[in-house]
Amino acid sequence: MGQAVLILIKPDGLKKSLTGNILTRLSETKLEIVAAKMVRVTQALAEEHYKHLKDKPFFNEIIQYLQGELHDRKKVMALIYWGPDAIKKCRELAGATNPEEAESTSIRGSYGRITTSGVYENVIHVSSNDSEAEREIKLWFAPDDVIVDLYPTKIIQKDIKFKDWA
Ligand code: PPS
Repeated sequence: MGQAVLILIKPDGLKKSLTGNILTRLSETKLEIVAAKMVRVTQALAEEHYKHLKDKPFFNEIIQYLQGELHDRKKVMALIYWGPDAIKKCRELAGATNPEEAESTSIRGSYGRITTSGVYENVIHVSSNDSEAEREIKLWFAPDDVIVDLYPTKIIQKDIKFKDWA
């Protein structure tokens, strides 16, 4: 059965020109990319994405990081991978969240670092479980951005009709 996972190539990954490399690594999973876009991340989007970390001492810094303020690259590449065991497969290739603990051949082990203030710059984000994947995918993508039907939708009629998450 298909499982969906949100992948973000963060501003450090883009600045280091790692997009092609990361996508090649992720293609080893044989999963399907069902959505992809470049995003200019607002503070509101970053804060909502990391809302479970609001009380952490590094919260403000990861908000700046995701917005690209630390790397002069104000963009993130957001993708949805879909297929069997998508979360496990992508997290294995990504490596541990802490780049120092990540296997050296993993994406984060190869390219991540910890800043002098102790914040992880770990190149990519990968959803941690099914419910987080659903929450994050609904935050980053509209239904029409995705080429498969992942979650129920509803039709909203305003000036024009468009689909929104139900
Ligand atoms: S938790 O505690 O399990 O809810 O955290 P987690 O889901 O692993 O996400 C933590 C995100 O914060 C980023 N980050 C750090 N975490 C821990 N310690 C330090 N010092 C730190 N610096 C940054 C970490 O990379 C996780 O973000 P993502 O985007 O998932 O990598």
